[in-house]
Amino acid sequence: MQHSVTFPSGTVDYLFQASFSDFLGTCDKKHTVLITNEHIAKLYPALFKEVRTLVVPPVESSKDLQTIARLAKDLLQVEATKKTMLIGVGGGVITDIVGFLAAVYMRGVSFGFVPTTLLGMVDASIGGKNGVNIGMNKNIVGTITQPKFILFDTRFLDTLPDDEWSNGFAEIIKYACIADAEMFEELSSNNISYYRDQDDTALIKLIERCVAIKNRIVLEDERETGNRKLMNFGHTAAHAIENLYELPHGKAVGIGMVIACMISIQVAGLDKTALDRLKKLLTLYHLPLRFNIDAKKAMDLLKMDKKRIDDTIDYIVLEKVGKAVIHSLPFDVIEKALIQYDSSN
Ligand SMILES: NC(=O)c1ccc[n+]([C@@H]2O[C@H](COP(=O)([O-])OP(=O)(O)OC[C@H]3O[C@@H](n4cnc5c(N)ncnc54)[C@H](O)[C@@H]3O)[C@@H](O)[C@H]2O)c1
Repeated sequence: MQHSVTFPSGTVDYLFQASFSDFLGTCDKKHTVLITNEHIAKLYPALFKEVRTLVVPPVESSKDLQTIARLAKDLLQVEATKKTMLIGVGGGVITDIVGFLAAVYMRGVSFGFVPTTLLGMVDASIGGKNGVNIGMNKNIVGTITQPKFILFDTRFLDTLPDDEWSNGFAEIIKYACIADAEMFEELSSNNISYYRDQDDTALIKLIERCVAIKNRIVLEDERETGNRKLMNFGHTAAHAIENLYELPHGKAVGIGMVIACMISIQVAGLDKTALDRLKKLLTLYHLPLRFNIDAKKAMDLLKMDKKRIDDTIDYIVLEKVGKAVIHSLPFDVIEKALIQYDSSN
């Protein structure tokens, strides 16, 4: 099933329920370079046999400028030109690296994504934002350019570890919180096994629903000057603690959403029961609620957030489940919330 969406920076083909192996059979191998990580290359050796493939270590710390420089050299070595199409096959780390690299290599080459994690399928591969980290500061340099295509082959998820399913659900719960109260209810009455262990109808529907929500928001505001910021619900605190404590992105987002809901009760009139419902939902999808945070260290990183304006940060809060808004919050309100979260553990 294929459909296209045209954003200001380009048109993306969404290849749902597709087979990457079939795709490789028909692609122009001479002008294609695959980029994946060591882990995926080992799990799926047959996929990487016939097309030139560059491989990076399977860790968040690969998402940096050294890796971009190394890959650019490798591309020169395999004689990749302006006509080359880069295809990122992997989770969010790979799609961020490849989207960024493709935007800058020879001032821009075409690229496509084959997300292999649930998080990659519902979020990281969608929307055209791709960045890398500078030290502990997440996604601080990046680009906004759309891939030519995103191919969804849910067979990759057969090898996905349980923990990575939970990480993917953190972003799905985020969509429910900011834009889809009905999906919040649906998620609350199911669990990971419902989506993972039966035939994949429910899972595919869920992925397509998330892609549709993200596309709707990105279409209105591709450059993130307004409502695209809503996608950052839970992410402001998450980005600060993710690299500080080497937490997986999804787990950090789960904790970040709890903190954002605590702030929402104070500043946006969110009903207290919504926080309890969120905590229940996170637990259902095996996401941690408790975590000790050094508020001072986290604030130092938070102050470098891209949504900072002078001594405030545009923080995403909920008025109710399914309705997010942007609040400009002074640093001290955020620091107090971090301390309050830490002492509630
Ligand atoms: N650009 C964006 O809009 C955006 C949005 C959300 C997240 N992100 C970024 O995405 C990253 C997180 O993505 P992620 O959770 O996919 O992490 P990831 O890419 O690190 O993948 C998680 C783990 O799963 C493994 N893996 C991948 N596919 C597999 C498969 N099919 N079978 C078995 N193992 C597999 C990987 O090797 C890795 O160990 C973060 O860096 C985050 O900042 C970007």
